[in-house]
Amino acid sequence: MGGKKSEHLYDEALNHLPGGVSSPVRAVKPFPFYTKRAEGSKIMDVDGNEYIDCCMAYGPLILGHSTPEVKRAIIEQLEDGWLYGTPIELEIEYAKLIKEIYPSIEMLRFVNSGSEATMSALRLARGYTGRNRIVKIEGSFHGAHDAVLVKAGSGATTHGVPNSAGVPEDFVRNTLQVPYNDIEALSELLEKNEDVACVILEPVMGNSSLILPGEGYLREVRKITAENDVLLIFDEIITGFRVSIGGAQELYGVKPDITTLGKIAGGGLPCGIFGGRKEIMEQIAPSGAVYQAGTFSGNPLTLRAGYTTVKFLKKNPVYEYLEKITSSLIEGIEDVAVSRGYSVQSLASMFCLYFGKKPSNYQEALELDSGKFVEFFWKLLGKGVFFPPSQYETCFLSYSHSEEDVEKIVEAVRECLKEL
Ligand SMILES: Cc1ncc(COP(=O)(O)O)c(C=O)c1O
Repeated sequence: MGGKKSEHLYDEALNHLPGGVSSPVRAVKPFPFYTKRAEGSKIMDVDGNEYIDCCMAYGPLILGHSTPEVKRAIIEQLEDGWLYGTPIELEIEYAKLIKEIYPSIEMLRFVNSGSEATMSALRLARGYTGRNRIVKIEGSFHGAHDAVLVKAGSGATTHGVPNSAGVPEDFVRNTLQVPYNDIEALSELLEKNEDVACVILEPVMGNSSLILPGEGYLREVRKITAENDVLLIFDEIITGFRVSIGGAQELYGVKPDITTLGKIAGGGLPCGIFGGRKEIMEQIAPSGAVYQAGTFSGNPLTLRAGYTTVKFLKKNPVYEYLEKITSSLIEGIEDVAVSRGYSVQSLASMFCLYFGKKPSNYQEALELDSGKFVEFFWKLLGKGVFFPPSQYETCFLSYSHSEEDVEKIVEAVRECLKEL
């Protein structure tokens, strides 16, 4: 699928951009489709094809593309200017709203991307505790910065570079890893290592396909980290405002020390947030000695889009609807998938079709047939449905997906699975 114009643009892009793209996961072979516009649940390419979008920009667009309410808010803000470099009242209003929804957050800082949020949160954990080591989960993805580019999921795994070149060995010596859903491994590691500042994890893994926490896992992680006097960071950049308005911490009833948010929090504009207990957050400059700064941080355009989105999520029955349509999608494809040895799973509006068994950790995710997924991806695109182009990504539905869209997705997926 795609077409001549996309093919031509990709050929041209390869001369100017590494791999032809601005972010690796978009480098679909033989060529990605180039988007002209998008609205609601649909994305249109430069060759005139229209697809039902189940990628939704990898998570931020929970309300859909070009949501009228968010668009209006952005336009209103544009009238007043889009970057000031001074404080604005909305920073306070939006911070209050986030604190109300995430009681574990007593103070927060706005930054410009999820990567920046996790990078700053890790520095803060190190600065606050005075310790050097961090623990991450194998296959988790926390953005593209040095401390976390070891056994990293998402595009890093898709493109065969889970351990990035260019990261000093001395640096990642301080990044310890344990498998997800393995309490014993975490417990042993924390008992053996004294210099650990924090454990960072995606409470629900969304970058090594979709992997759910086993019964009681997150509560145990909380207990063990507290017993070892180690900070717990929930990276809720995907799960925040997604698995419920209050994220995985609300859904599973577990309170981290620090939370990172992004994606949905910016209403589709670049955004990251990190926040947590006041005594920890006050270590951030200028009130404390952990330095963090940004020209575009807390910019009015992002805050307006994010604030409008979160207000909308609070006022409307978004999560009930999303749960209903995502469950019906999964029910619609389960029998065909299972009869072929594949599996399916969803959580709220995140879902995944696994070419193999549902994994419970990264090692198991690597056993999925990612080649088969790519074959399926192209067939599905040919039928007008766009899934994220890798087995290691998660699919998303939005409030703008209609029941009719879901019926079309179900039909297309069923046909493709039968044709494989
Ligand atoms: C869980 C998680 N953390 C952090 C990031 C990095 O966010 P960004 O791409 O906004 O830098 C991502 C991006 O996909 C993510 O999924």
